[in-house]
Order: sequence, then C-alpha cells, then structure tokens
Amino acid sequence: MLGKSILFLTLTILGALADKKFPDTFRFGTAGASYQIEGGWNEDGRGVSIWDTFVHTPGHVKNNATGDVASDSYHKYKEDVAILADLGVKLYRFSIAWPRILPDGTPYKVNQAGIDYYLNLIKELQANGIEPVITLYHWDLPQHLEDLGGWLNPQIADYFGDYARVVYKALGPYVKYWVTINEPGTTCTCGYGQGIHAPGKSLVGDGIYTCAYNSIRAHAKAYRIYEEEFKKTQGGKVTLNIASSWYYPKDNSSSLDQLAADRTFEFNPGLYANPVFKGNWPQIVIDRVANRSKLEGYSFSRLPVFTQEEIDYINGTFDFFALNIYTSSIVEYTDEWPISQPTVWLDQGTITSVDPSWPVSESSWLTSDPPGVRYLLNYIQEKYNPGEIIITENGWSTVPGELTDTSRVAYLKGYLSNILDAIVDDGVNVTGYTLWSLLDNFEWAEGYTQRFGIISVDFDDANRTRTYKDSAKWYKRVVEARAIVD
Ligand SMILES: *[C@@H]1O[C@H](CO)[C@@H](O)[C@H](O)[C@H]1NC(C)=O
Ligand SMILES: *[C@@H]1O[C@H](CO)[C@@H](O)[C@H](O)[C@H]1NC(C)=O
Ligand SMILES: *[C@@H]1O[C@H](CO)[C@@H](O)[C@H](O)[C@H]1NC(C)=O
Ligand SMILES: *[C@@H]1O[C@H](CO)[C@@H](O)[C@H](O)[C@H]1NC(C)=O
Ligand SMILES: *[C@@H]1O[C@H](CO)[C@@H](O)[C@H](O)[C@H]1NC(C)=O
Ligand SMILES: *[C@@H]1O[C@H](CO)[C@@H](O)[C@H](O)[C@H]1NC(C)=O
Repeated sequence: MLGKSILFLTLTILGALADKKFPDTFRFGTAGASYQIEGGWNEDGRGVSIWDTFVHTPGHVKNNATGDVASDSYHKYKEDVAILADLGVKLYRFSIAWPRILPDGTPYKVNQAGIDYYLNLIKELQANGIEPVITLYHWDLPQHLEDLGGWLNPQIADYFGDYARVVYKALGPYVKYWVTINEPGTTCTCGYGQGIHAPGKSLVGDGIYTCAYNSIRAHAKAYRIYEEEFKKTQGGKVTLNIASSWYYPKDNSSSLDQLAADRTFEFNPGLYANPVFKGNWPQIVIDRVANRSKLEGYSFSRLPVFTQEEIDYINGTFDFFALNIYTSSIVEYTDEWPISQPTVWLDQGTITSVDPSWPVSESSWLTSDPPGVRYLLNYIQEKYNPGEIIITENGWSTVPGELTDTSRVAYLKGYLSNILDAIVDDGVNVTGYTLWSLLDNFEWAEGYTQRFGIISVDFDDANRTRTYKDSAKWYKRVVEARAIVD
C-alpha cells in the first residue's frame, strides 16, 4: 500500500507527460558515419574511397561540396565525445572508413594509424561510459575494389570478410555491437541504380539486384567470420542494417492497396531483410522479377538465384535488428505496367506517395509521420522475431545555421513517444536509439545544404565550431528524464 501511494504521489508530481518512462534496458545515443564527419581524407595513410573520387568530379554534389574536411571529427573526436558525455547518452554509433584501415581495401597492408584513430575514439568513449556501436561499411568503399567492380563483383564478399576480420581483431575486444553494412538498399539503389551516389552507376534493371545479392553475401560472410572466430572470446552481436519506411495502403478498406503496400515493403526493406532473417528473397519478389524477365525476353531472372548452400549460409545471420527509419509512405495498387526497359520500380509495380498533411522538412523531401514508427516496430517484431531491435537512425533535416530547430524537436518528440508506446504498451523489445545525427555533416549528394545534426557545425570556420541547437538541449533533458519532456 505504501508503495502504491508513493507511486501515486510521484505520478502526481511528475505530471502526465513523464509517467511513461523508457525502461532500464533502453539506451539513448547518437549516430554518425566516417565519410560524413571525419575529414582527414588523405591523412596518415588513408587510401582513396569511391566517395573521394565521386566528390572530386564536379557536378555530382550540390555546390561541388566535398567531405575532405567535413565536420573534422578526425581531429576533433575528443570534443565530440565531450559533447556526447554532456548529453548523457550511453551509445555512440559510428563507422569505420575501410580505406583508413586497408588503404586499397585488401589486407596485405594494414594502416596502423587508421586503427589507432578508432582505438583512441573507443578509449575516449569508454572513459566516459559510452558504448560504441560500430558500422563496418557506411558507403566509403576503397576505390581499388570499385575498379574491380565494387558491389557488382561477387568476390566483394571475400574482400569484405577479410576487412571485417582485420577490424574484429583490432577493435573487437572493446566492441559489443557491430553493424556490417549500412542501408545496402541505399547503396544499391542510389549508387548502382540511380547513379546519384558513388560510384554513380545507373543500372536500374539488374545492377540493383546484383548489388543486393553481393551485399547480402558479404554481410553473411562478415557475420560467419565473427561467429566462428571471435564470438566466443569477444561476445558481441552482429547484424545488417535495414532502412525502412512504414507503408500505409492508400485505402484501408482496399485489399488491393493492402497487397500493394505489402509488396512495396518486400521490394524495399524486405529485399535485404528477408534473406538474412528468413533465408531467401521474398517470394513475391522472386515471382514478379522472374515473370517480367521472361516477358522481357530473358532466359533467366534478373534477380540472382541463391543456391541452397548460400541460403543455409545466409539464413539467420543476425543477433538483433538494426533499423533506420525516417518517414512513411502511402501505397496504391495499379494494373501491370507494360513491358519496356526493365527497372526495379516496374518490377515492384505500385504507386507511392506521401500524405499532404504530413509536415515536410524545409530543406529536403523528408516528411514526418510519427505513428509510422510504432506500426513498423510491431510489424518487424511479428514478421522477423529478431529478439532485440536498435533504432540505429532516426532524424530530421533543417536548413544551414538554424539553431532554433523547433521542427526537429517536434519530429523527435513524435517519433520517440511512439517508440516509447511500442516498448511499453506493445512490448516491442527496442533496446537502443542512436539519433541521426550528433553533428551537422556532409549529406552525400546534398552536400551541406541539409543539416541533420542536433549540434550545429560552422563549415565556414576552419575550426568547424560546434554549437548546441535547441534540439540538443531538449534531447539532453529527455535522456536525463528517460521520458518525453516538453
Ligand atoms: C560545379 O562544377 C561544375 C563543373 O566544373 C560547374 O559547371 C558548376 O558551376 C559548379 N557549381 C558550383 C555551385 O560551383
Ligand atoms: C488507415 O489506417 C491507419 C492506421 O493503420 C490510420 O492512421 C489512417 O488514418 C487510416 N486511413 C484512412 C484513410 O482511414
Ligand atoms: C531459415 O531458417 C529457419 C529456422 O531454422 C527455417 O525455418 C527456414 O525454413 C529457413 N529458410 C530457408 C529458406 O531455408
Ligand atoms: C507469374 O506468371 C504466372 C504465369 O503467367 C502467373 O500465374 C503468376 O500469377 C505470376 N505471378 C506473379 C507474382 O505475378
Ligand atoms: C530484449 O533484448 C535484450 C538484449 O538481447 C535481452 O536481454 C532481453 O531479455 C530482451 N527482452 C525481452 C522482453 O525479450
Ligand atoms: C579556432 O580555435 C583556436 C583554438 O581553440 C582559437 O584560438 C581560435 O580563435 C579559433 N578561431 C576561430 C575563427 O574561431
């Protein structure tokens, strides 16, 4: 009885907003990626990546911007960790620049200075009670490997495995959470499909599937190497990272729109998640690409076929689910498109849009639909039963220089409160959240025109001075209260 009245008193004092708390098993964090923040592109023996090549060819990135200096985290990592410590977060997700460790991507030459950079960063984090979540590949492929075909070359799986082994050996004793490949769907679609990301290839009918096939094989290789050679001594967890929207049927009462929404899920996150979590491509993707390939005159499917041996090797190569979520999408059924130049979008064959009532970021196409994250978390839990989910990215972009970032606070408040509902009310096991991103940074083809940081970076100042935005101050209070605050 006493307990109950103390609880009642506490609730009364804290008020309605704070009565729902993130459980003790849940950890807050922030995220970033090597090429987007580090700079130091040609320092201390780092090799050249496909992004160096891409940005140094004018016309690829807005304002011809580059990541040569970026947020200068290669030199300012101690300042970054001090900010993380001040925010009170317990997780920091960052990626390793493959060419910083293996300058040409192959293991014959290991660059100790690169390893030392990451060791120092990890030491600094751990001295502040912050746990690293490390992504092995966040898009900065060594140029030498692209010269061999990059993610279109089946041997990339072996190169990636060798690289992963070097990193596990050097950093593994200090790391418990590994993400092999960040958003392979974005690499394959933007890098080998639309050509808007490095390496700038436009192969919309087949390159995307070949890239997906090899990304999954490479992930599985890195997972199995950890499982066989390191897990026993290092005891960490490994997974692939999946970006997903939530897909609403346009008309809830239309079974065709529901079918279209499910199919759109399978052609996007499902293409990458299904092999890892269930063993093969989604059946609907296998069937549709085979059918259209046949009608196009191919004697085989444009979607590579996994052998049974590959299926057994890939199936179950996860220890948790790493989810990136930014937005939702509305999906409408449509009749079959006529046969023409093959593309993955014709294979998918649905019409997607966004709801006009959703708030749109002033600097990009991003739309905000907070309930989507709760639907998606429940869907993933049910469909893949991953045991544990970490939201490895979620965030909002604003315009350069904006410190009073009310729209970001509103976005984060909406998403975090729906994540909290998924945890507390629906029992979804979300154990971590690394907000994208700690710092303003190089936003790929958008250069520095879109700012995702909760910390502003002055890119006109050689010092790359960091300044708290309102969202950082707000997030700090959320982390402290372990609840949604105003
Ligand atoms: C980027 O480089 C291209 C090619 O040199 C040039 O035409 C264009 O004007 C440049 N854009 C900016 C914003 O400097
Ligand atoms: C359809 O259902 C979703 C919940 O799944 C709801 O948010 C949305 O408002 C509904 N849309 C319509 C048009 O009824
Ligand atoms: C993947 O493994 C699960 C669990 O062992 C099994 O039920 C499933 O049939 C496998 N998938 C394939 C495609 O073999
Ligand atoms: C593929 O084609 C076959 C034969 O025309 C048809 O029965 C089947 O429904 C098609 N499958 C899909 C997913 O379109
Ligand atoms: C959630 O995941 C964590 C980490 O794997 C695990 O320790 C915990 O038992 C899980 N909780 C539930 C309810 O499954
Ligand atoms: C850059 O940082 C140095 C050392 O902290 C400081 O002395 C200098 O005034 C700063 N410059 C600018 C432009 O902020």
